[in-house]
Amino acid sequence: MTHDLTLLGLESSCDDTAAAVVRRHADGRGEILASVVVDQTSLHRDFGGVVPEIAARAHTEKLDVAAKQALMQANLGLGDMDAIAVTAGPGLIGGALSGVMFAKGLAAGASLPLIGVNHLAGHALTPRLTEGLGYPYLMLLVSGGHCQFLRVDGPQEFHRLGGTIDDAPGEAFDKVARMLGLGQPGGPAVEAEARSGDPARFAFPRPLLDRPGCDMSFSGLKTAVLRERDRLVEASGGLHRADRADLCASFQAAIADVMAEKSRRALALYLQASPDEPAFAVAGGVAANQAIRAVLETVSTEAGARFTAPPLALCTDNAAMIAWAGIEGFAAGRQDDMTLAARPRWPLDTTAPAMLGSGRKGAKA
Ligand code: KG4
Ligand code: ZN
Repeated sequence: MTHDLTLLGLESSCDDTAAAVVRRHADGRGEILASVVVDQTSLHRDFGGVVPEIAARAHTEKLDVAAKQALMQANLGLGDMDAIAVTAGPGLIGGALSGVMFAKGLAAGASLPLIGVNHLAGHALTPRLTEGLGYPYLMLLVSGGHCQFLRVDGPQEFHRLGGTIDDAPGEAFDKVARMLGLGQPGGPAVEAEARSGDPARFAFPRPLLDRPGCDMSFSGLKTAVLRERDRLVEASGGLHRADRADLCASFQAAIADVMAEKSRRALALYLQASPDEPAFAVAGGVAANQAIRAVLETVSTEAGARFTAPPLALCTDNAAMIAWAGIEGFAAGRQDDMTLAARPRWPLDTTAPAMLGSGRKGAKA
């Protein structure tokens, strides 16, 4: 690398409309010059989940506003960009399509190269932007729609070591919150309740621990919580505050146990590649959970790998990660043209068997 690269990144595959300006300096260091996220939570609140049509329309209305704001914050114009990167999938097709069409218009109008980015690659490459991690590193992507272990070998080389075969953990947190009358998003609400609860009171299942490999399953766990809640309600005519806290703490402990053991196995597989500087990175909304983060850090340190988690704003959906993934692709000679299509499904590792389920907010690619 002999010169700077500055890209505008756009993200609209889920329920956040985001735009960012990111620069890679000649020495390889990444810098976020602006990052704007317009969240749609209030638009979907009454429906108990993301409504694809509402999301797509909101993206169409907000993409230009977000892009303009990002450029303004960076104090740059479109003419200062080297290219435009946009999420082309996986995710909600209407949203991804809004982003791709908008990016095509911008790129054509400003005569700039266009790069379609895989949303999951954006998450997976974030530790290079924030920490300058070298390849290969181990990544655990864990959010409301995704859950997978990836060995990241290069900007487009991802090797999936395992993942969920049904729900994503964030999805399980959200469902448990709903069944206990807590607000959405469920993760932070369940974590807050769990703080005053007894994690050992209920022995919830630790699915798939008895089987080899790094695959995980969380839907049975959620059903076990539901059964226990119904039993408590029947026994005492309602759910006491302490019972709710204990349910949350015991549920969170089960998730943490499963993720710790599966991370141990993923680390062992990853370390077989003898990386020079072993590193384990975790990203996605669930990585915000302090209890889960703590066990993952312990497991990583025990295995001799450096543990890292991007700052929360870069763990959850954003466009800085899309701009960065675009920069890595562009620097490696990648470029798309006006035939770029939005893809609802787009697995990072095309050699790994397809994951089951479609995910709450998008494909579990
Ligand atoms: O990465 P993200 O913002 O969006 C996608 O799903 O792509 O992740 C959101 C998910 C939600 O399911 C939310 O409940 C969960 O992450 N989450 C948490 C916590 N904060 C957010 N789960 C557990 N503990 C948390 N503190
Ligand atoms: Zn995401």
